[in-house]
Amino acid sequence: MAAALDLSRIPAPSPRVVGDVSPNDGVVSLGPILQRDLESLFVWLNDVRAAALDLPYRPFDCVAYRDWLDRLPRETSQILFAIREVGRPEMVGFVLFKNFQSVYQTAELGVRIGVEGERGKGYGTRAVRLAMDYAWGVLNLHRISLHVLAHNERAIASYVHAGFETEGRLREAAFIDGQWRDVVMMGALRPKPAV
Ligand SMILES: CC(C)(COP(=O)(O)OP(=O)(O)OC[C@H]1O[C@@H](n2cnc3c(N)ncnc32)[C@H](O)[C@@H]1OP(=O)(O)O)[C@@H](O)C(=O)NCCC(=O)NCCS
Repeated sequence: MAAALDLSRIPAPSPRVVGDVSPNDGVVSLGPILQRDLESLFVWLNDVRAAALDLPYRPFDCVAYRDWLDRLPRETSQILFAIREVGRPEMVGFVLFKNFQSVYQTAELGVRIGVEGERGKGYGTRAVRLAMDYAWGVLNLHRISLHVLAHNERAIASYVHAGFETEGRLREAAFIDGQWRDVVMMGALRPKPAV
């Protein structure tokens, strides 16, 4: 049987040092989740107001969280990055690649800036651009897609700034806060090499 996860044995380096060596654009870095981030991440995954902009809410309990963390390092179908502002230790959000299709070289992207006070500062757009660079240059993906609630205008503006295009609209495809809502499909294709 596998040994239980013992967080006290995991190194806890300075997030600044980790941010410096991770993919970054000088303002925002995409790096590994550190031990110190686990509390915030757990809270964000249980944030009912953020879920109303994203997914059907359901509580994510501590047992399921621990199980997810245990599996993450061996998981080939998900890649999770912490978003940090360069020079600041706190994680401000996360980016998640999921649902990889190896034949089509595609994946879906999820992004969350954890707290409202950190939103609207450009971190989301920068993080998505960095994630796209990683998708084309490291994962060798051809296409990334995402779904976003049509009334989530800030998220759509951010994805458009990062280089996503709207590809379609699913009518009344989500039920949020007692109302049927449209869902927008967005995608980004790997840039063609200059000729
Ligand atoms: C969606 C999210 C990742 C975007 O990241 P962010 O850091 O807040 O976004 P940015 O600051 O990079 O860009 C937001 C853009 O939307 C614009 N914007 C803000 N509110 C807006 C509104 N109500 N309508 C239209 N545009 C709006 C901003 O002006 C900015 O554009 P600008 O750069 O031209 O000024 C983040 O807001 C978030 O996590 N929100 C909560 C959860 C969520 O919505 N998740 C998305 C699930 S698909």
